[in-house]
Amino acid sequence: MAKVILLSGSPRPKGNTMQVMETCGEVIRQEGLEAEIISLHNMQVRSCIACYRCGELGHCSIDDGLNEIIEKIKEAEGLIVGAPVYFGTARGDLMSALQRLGMVAGKNGGWLSWKVGGPIAVARRGGLSASYQEMLMFYFISDMIVPGSTYWNIVFAKEPGTAVKDIEGMETVKRFAGNVAKLIKKIHA
Ligand SMILES: Cc1cc2nc3c(=O)[nH]c(=O)nc-3n(C[C@H](O)[C@H](O)[C@H](O)COP(=O)(O)O)c2cc1C
Repeated sequence: MAKVILLSGSPRPKGNTMQVMETCGEVIRQEGLEAEIISLHNMQVRSCIACYRCGELGHCSIDDGLNEIIEKIKEAEGLIVGAPVYFGTARGDLMSALQRLGMVAGKNGGWLSWKVGGPIAVARRGGLSASYQEMLMFYFISDMIVPGSTYWNIVFAKEPGTAVKDIEGMETVKRFAGNVAKLIKKIHA
């Protein structure tokens, strides 16, 4: 069965980003695909150190637990990432993870190519579009396929648990998650 990894970049294990990932995961399962939610909340993801050793090793030279996640993404057909917005940008750990993932995949045959997915930004008020665009840069340079929705993938939320109150935001990301699943089914039919 085709699988989608949903990666939460929030330090809060039960925060808004996680809630959004869980909702998207449910939509993907309803479409008949497997969905695995992974959170970075208990990790400290280091940034790429530009050693370029991933080309020889096949994995990242930094041993902080990210390689296990990278391996799961390699085996999956889809990748959705969610980040809380911090000071107008996507949270650093999530961007560090994407940059290392992109480098490992790129230096080993470009195995992210044609995987389907996209980013979701979560914030109280400001920096959502910028963070969404920031994360999109990773998808497009990795030759991945990003389906749209009826709006951009942004959700307004502050205190944990408030994401679901942004009805339009949740409908947008549910539609997006459904499109990810549908596209994977078409590609792998
Ligand atoms: C360090 C820090 C910076 C933040 N910066 C912003 C910001 O620039 N814009 C915004 O709207 N919300 C900002 N927030 C609020 C979070 O984006 C918001 O609470 C979000 O729902 C957190 O998602 P989470 O519950 O998944 O961690 C910031 C929060 C923290 C802790």
